[in-house]
Amino acid sequence: MNRIEEIQKIVEERIEKEIISLEERSPNHLYAPIAYALRNGGKRFRPRLFLMAMEMFSSITPEGIDAALGMEVFHNFTLLHDDIMDDADLRRGKDTVHKKYDENTAILSGDAMMICAYQYFHKLSPEVQAKVVPVFTQTALEVCEGQQYDMDFEQQDDVEVAAYLEMIRLKTAVLLAASLKIGALVAGASDKDADLIYDFGIQVGVSFQIQDDILDVYGNPKTFGKEIGGDIVANKKTYLLLQTLKDVSTEDKQSLLEWISKETFNREEKVNAVRAIYDHVDIRTKAEKLQQDYFDRALASLDQISVSSDKKEPLRNVALSLFKRDV
Ligand code: IPE
Ligand code: IPE
Ligand code: MG
Ligand code: MG
Ligand code: MG
Repeated sequence: MNRIEEIQKIVEERIEKEIISLEERSPNHLYAPIAYALRNGGKRFRPRLFLMAMEMFSSITPEGIDAALGMEVFHNFTLLHDDIMDDADLRRGKDTVHKKYDENTAILSGDAMMICAYQYFHKLSPEVQAKVVPVFTQTALEVCEGQQYDMDFEQQDDVEVAAYLEMIRLKTAVLLAASLKIGALVAGASDKDADLIYDFGIQVGVSFQIQDDILDVYGNPKTFGKEIGGDIVANKKTYLLLQTLKDVSTEDKQSLLEWISKETFNREEKVNAVRAIYDHVDIRTKAEKLQQDYFDRALASLDQISVSSDKKEPLRNVALSLFKRDV
């Protein structure tokens, strides 16, 4: 087992322990949905990045593992609420929490997860908490800001690519970046290195969300675990849609705008029609190019961190797997 796999195992074991304790708590209707969400898996990127950042600057500690778990629980909280907001029925190949239980359950269990996320930081020393909790709080608020922009943009037809990039920085990149930064700070990194690893996380995170948006249209329905085409159905202003609107022929643009304004439609028909227009301008290649630009920038930030290159190797490899993922 290589170090990356060992870290993955540390994360999985800690989460499994948490699930078992959640399943025993009352009221069951509050905690069982949390256990369900955590048991359904996911890539666990945030706690993995957290622990890898710790190890880059010193070593992994039990308190660090708890705080890393906090980042994963917070991430899963955002998914419970995101799936209500996006009207999504499928997550990681299973029913979403609001589908399996109901919306009220997903709202309240999600709230509880957000609160629990703070509790996992309590074992850190008061000095470390004073440094990292404000980072976490600021990040949590920014995720809400990103989610609100995402919702606002559904109704807006003049969204710029720059506004989309800022929206995905907020809704997605800041949490990945904060996982790295908090891991680094818990491990005693300097403020300068903590900021550099945060920058690395932002670039990786933006690249990650562009990939998510590509997969939403072009992913393999058998393995993706979410319903393909959700962004098209909801008129999400992704890079794919915004850039296509700029690049298409007048005729295709007319047709795209018609699909966007339709109140009632057949889901599959809309997804297929929009995807066909995307293909006319080869949007997938363009999106992949943009994603690559962010990934290159991420590696440049990583290079500047003041630890030896071999210590950066695990993070470089995980960033690569995150970049190349197909789920
Ligand atoms: C999904 O995140 C939400 C986004 C920010 C794109 P992940 O793709 O990390 O979800 P899981 O946890 O691996 O399922
Ligand atoms: C999710 O973005 C961002 C957050 C949950 C904060 P998406 O809505 O694209 O994520 P998926 O595709 O549902 O996982
Ligand atoms: Mg969403
Ligand atoms: Mg969603
Ligand atoms: Mg998505």
